[in-house]
Formats: sequence, structure tokens, C-alpha cells
Amino acid sequence: MAAQDPTTSTTTTGRRPFFCGNWKLFGTLAESTTLATEVRNGVATLRDVDVAVAPSFTAIHAVAKRLEDGPVAVAAQDCFWEDKGAFTGEVAPGQLADAGCRYVIVGHSERRQLMGELDAAVNLKARAALRAGLQPIVCVGETLAERDAGETLGRVQAQLDAALAGMAPADVARCLIAYEPVWAIGTGRNATPAQAEEVHRFIRARVAAQFPGEAAALRILYGGSVKPDNIRALMAEDDVDGGLVGGASLTAESFVRIVKEGSRPW
Ligand code: 13P
Repeated sequence: MAAQDPTTSTTTTGRRPFFCGNWKLFGTLAESTTLATEVRNGVATLRDVDVAVAPSFTAIHAVAKRLEDGPVAVAAQDCFWEDKGAFTGEVAPGQLADAGCRYVIVGHSERRQLMGELDAAVNLKARAALRAGLQPIVCVGETLAERDAGETLGRVQAQLDAALAGMAPADVARCLIAYEPVWAIGTGRNATPAQAEEVHRFIRARVAAQFPGEAAALRILYGGSVKPDNIRALMAEDDVDGGLVGGASLTAESFVRIVKEGSRPW
């Protein structure tokens, strides 16, 4: 995100920094609405940065109501790929939009690893989200074994190509990509800025090869042990446009510090 306009946090590329707190499976209704309020208050004076929080399904509507007309948007952590039907237990993207979501995370590595979600499902989910007017945050990232085997870029390319398959340029323009190396999630071991930048630059180039008009504006978030004290160095890289934050988004104090550190001009 280098080459910033010194008067704002928006880069000369026009990519606004974006930070999303992924609350995963945490939070009662009371805890979620309280945290949302604290985040809203904490970022209220910030300009030129996009902020979202992703509560559990059960808290989405209450959090969206609490954040209504404010600067913080609501994301869901997953969605189904059908719009309606006999699919017990699933949640359609249209229902998420109706509940107040603007974004939806798809293909998170925890879903890929723990729920067996495949690349093809991620594509169906992202396209269903777009149909419903949501902006998908498409997650990609390699495991430690894949990194150690030198397969990082190949794995990311396969996940990315599959996720974007069948999309029109206008669809890609509404997507965000999150690079989340699996070995860095919840481990306290973040990718170095150089490691993140290598993959982010690769993602942008790969998107540019298929969607030349959309790649420059595409926001690519980094996720994996993002903390207030490491976000600035990550954001200093040209192709790191924001963060998808897990553990450190569970208190407003640390999440707001990440947003401030990551979006102030330098
Ligand atoms: P942590 O920030 O807890 O490593 O989680 C990252 C993540 O999975 C965000 O989606």
C-alpha cells in the first residue's frame, strides 16, 4: 500500500484500506452488540478506510441494527450457494443481505479444512453472494506442508482461479481477496511483510491476466495473526490493502488500533 497521498490514507492507486474483524464462533448477542458499538465509536473519526465486522449468524441482524447508518459494515462468515430451497441448516446470501450484511467471507481455511469445503463450492458461494448483491471476501492460502514443499503459489493460483471461474469483470470488481496462510492463523506466527507481498503481488498479476481492467483496483487483504504491532509493516507493502483479523478483532481496543495503525498515512 505504498505511495500514499500524504493528505489522506488513500493510496495513489485508489485502493482504500479495508479491515474486517472475523469474530468466528465467539459472542453472545449482548457481547456482539457491545463490541460492535465500541468498534463503531473507535473508528468514528477515521476517514478513507473501510471497516467491517463479521459476527456469528445469530448476531448479524442485531449488530447490523446497531451499526445502521454508521461507518462500520457487516459481513457474514459464510453463505450457501442456493438462493432458497430444501437445504436444512444453510443460510442464503439473500437472507444475509436482508439481515443487513454487505460482505460475506467465502472459502475461509477453517471451512476448507474442518468442513471439507472444496474450491468448486467456494466459487458457487462467491457467485451466489454476488447475485444477492453482497461483496464476497474470497479467502485463499496454503498450508505449512504446501509452503514447505514449495507449492505456495501453485496452491493459491488453483484456489484463486477456481473461485473466480465464470465471473464477469463486473463481478470481479466487487470481490475482495484475502490471503490467509493457514500456518499463520491463530498461531501468533504472521507471514513476514515480504512473504505476504510475494503472494499478494502474485494474486494481483494472476487476476490481471484474466481481468486486466479490474486487477489494479482489487483489494487484497492479509490475514493470519494480524496485530496492532505488525499491521503497519504489512501495509507498507505495495499490494497489501488491508487485513482480515481474527483473534485481535475480539476486543475493540486492539481492532481499532489495527485500523488506525494500518490506515494512517506514512
Ligand atoms: P487470527 O487473526 O486469529 O490469526 O485469524 C485470522 C483469520 O482467520 C481471519 O479470518
